[in-house]
Amino acid sequence: MERGAILLVAAVVVFVAPVVRGTSHLSFANDTQQVNVTRAGCGVTALCVDQPGACDPAGNGTCLFASVVAGPPAAPNGTDLYFKLRGTSKGYVALGLAVNATEGTSELFLCGQNSSHGTFFFRTMQRNNTNAALTPAERRVTQIRGLVRGDVIECEFNVPGVNATDTRSSHATTTFSILLGTGPLNGSTLGPFNVSLISGPLNVADPSSNVPTTPSPATNATATATATPSGASSVLLSHGEQHTAISYSSPWML
Ligand SMILES: *[C@@H]1O[C@H](CO)[C@@H](O)[C@H](O)[C@H]1NC(C)=O
Ligand SMILES: *[C@@H]1O[C@H](CO)[C@@H](O)[C@H](O)[C@H]1NC(C)=O
Ligand SMILES: *[C@@H]1O[C@H](CO)[C@@H](O)[C@H](O)[C@H]1NC(C)=O
Ligand SMILES: *[C@@H]1O[C@H](CO)[C@@H](O)[C@H](O)[C@H]1NC(C)=O
Ligand SMILES: *[C@@H]1O[C@H](CO)[C@@H](O)[C@H](O)[C@H]1NC(C)=O
Ligand SMILES: *[C@@H]1O[C@H](CO)[C@@H](O)[C@H](O)[C@H]1NC(C)=O
Ligand SMILES: *[C@@H]1O[C@H](CO)[C@@H](O)[C@H](O)[C@H]1NC(C)=O
Ligand SMILES: *[C@@H]1O[C@H](CO)[C@@H](O)[C@H](O)[C@H]1NC(C)=O
Ligand SMILES: *[C@@H]1O[C@H](CO)[C@@H](O)[C@H](O)[C@H]1NC(C)=O
Ligand SMILES: *[C@@H]1O[C@H](CO)[C@@H](O)[C@H](O)[C@H]1NC(C)=O
Ligand SMILES: *[C@@H]1O[C@H](CO)[C@@H](O)[C@H](O)[C@H]1NC(C)=O
Repeated sequence: MERGAILLVAAVVVFVAPVVRGTSHLSFANDTQQVNVTRAGCGVTALCVDQPGACDPAGNGTCLFASVVAGPPAAPNGTDLYFKLRGTSKGYVALGLAVNATEGTSELFLCGQNSSHGTFFFRTMQRNNTNAALTPAERRVTQIRGLVRGDVIECEFNVPGVNATDTRSSHATTTFSILLGTGPLNGSTLGPFNVSLISGPLNVADPSSNVPTTPSPATNATATATATPSGASSVLLSHGEQHTAISYSSPWML
C-alpha cells in the first residue's frame, strides 16, 4: 500500500514537472537558474553550516556553505526542509543528513557540474557512514534549482517529509548531523565523497541551534545577526578524511 502511494507520487511528479533531469523522483523548479545563496538569515531564519567558518557564499572563493530552513512540523509525515548549498568543485558538492555520522547511513544530496559542458545536475545517494561507500538511493526532491559559474556550484532544493527517527529512542526528531563535502566526476561516474565538515547534532528546525550559546567575551558591541561567529564552536570539523575510493558505472548515475 505504501509502495503504491510512492509510485503514485512518482507518477504525479513526472506529469506535473515539465523539466525532469535525472530520475523521476526529482523535480526541477521552472525557474531553474534563479539561485541566490547568501548568508542572509543565518542563525535567525536559517541554520547555516560552513567551511571555513563564516565564509561568504556569494563571493568567488572556496566557501563550502549550506543553509536549511524547516517547514512547520507535520507529524507523522515528517518536516519539509528547504536547502541551499554552495561550493567549488569541477565535479560535485554534496550535503549529507545523518542521525549519527559514524554509524548507519546518510542521505546525500549532490549538486554537480558536468564539466564537459558546464551543465548542472542533481542526484541523491546513500552514504554508508561506516565505510563511506556511496550507493544510488531514490529520494523525492522538489523545486531543484542550480547554477554553475566556473568551479562554483550553487543549488537550492526542497526535501519533503524528512523524519530523523532516533533508532535508540524511536522518537521522530529533526536533529541531524550535517555533512558537507565535494567529489569528482569522471564522465558519468561519481567519484568518492570527500567530507570536509561533519557537524555535531543540530536541530534543523531551530535556526539558532548552530550559534554558540556563550558569546565571545572580546566583542560585545556589534551583533552581526547574519554571520556565524568564526569560532563556530558547535560545529566539529573533520579535515582531510581519507576514504576508500569507489567508483560506479551503473545506469543509476544518469
Ligand atoms: C513557474 O510556474 C508557475 C506555475 O505553473 C507559474 O505561475 C510561474 O509564473 C512560473 N515561473 C516562471 C519563472 O516561469
Ligand atoms: C540575493 O539575496 C540577497 C539577500 O537576501 C539580496 O540582497 C539580493 O538582492 C539577492 N540577489 C538576487 C539576484 O536575487
Ligand atoms: C566574482 O567574479 C566575477 C567574474 O569573474 C566578478 O564579476 C565578480 O565581481 C566577483 N565577485 C566578487 C565578490 O569578487
Ligand atoms: C500526511 O500525509 C498524508 C498523505 O500524503 C496526508 O493525507 C496528510 O494530510 C498528511 N498529514 C499532515 C499532518 O500533513
Ligand atoms: C516518522 O517517525 C515516526 C516515529 O518513529 C513514525 O511513527 C512515522 O511513521 C515516521 N513517518 C515517516 C513518514 O517515516
Ligand atoms: C553514534 O554512534 C557511535 C558508534 O556506534 C556511538 O558511539 C555514539 O554514541 C553515537 N552518537 C550519538 C549521538 O548517538
Ligand atoms: C556499511 O558498511 C559496513 C562495513 O562494510 C557493513 O557491515 C554494513 O552492512 C553497511 N551498511 C549498509 C546499510 O549497507
Ligand atoms: C575516467 O574514466 C575512464 C574510463 O572509465 C578511465 O580510463 C580513466 O582512468 C578515469 N579517470 C580518472 C581520473 O579516474
Ligand atoms: C556529462 O556529459 C557527457 C557528455 O554529454 C555525458 O556522457 C555524461 O553522462 C554526463 N554526465 C553526467 C553526470 O550527467
Ligand atoms: C578533500 O578535501 C580537502 C579539503 O577539505 C582537501 O584538502 C583534500 O585534498 C581533498 N581530498 C581529495 C582526495 O580530493
Ligand atoms: C560590553 O561589555 C562590557 C563588560 O560586560 C560592558 O561594560 C559594556 O557596556 C558593553 N558594551 C556594549 C556596547 O554593550
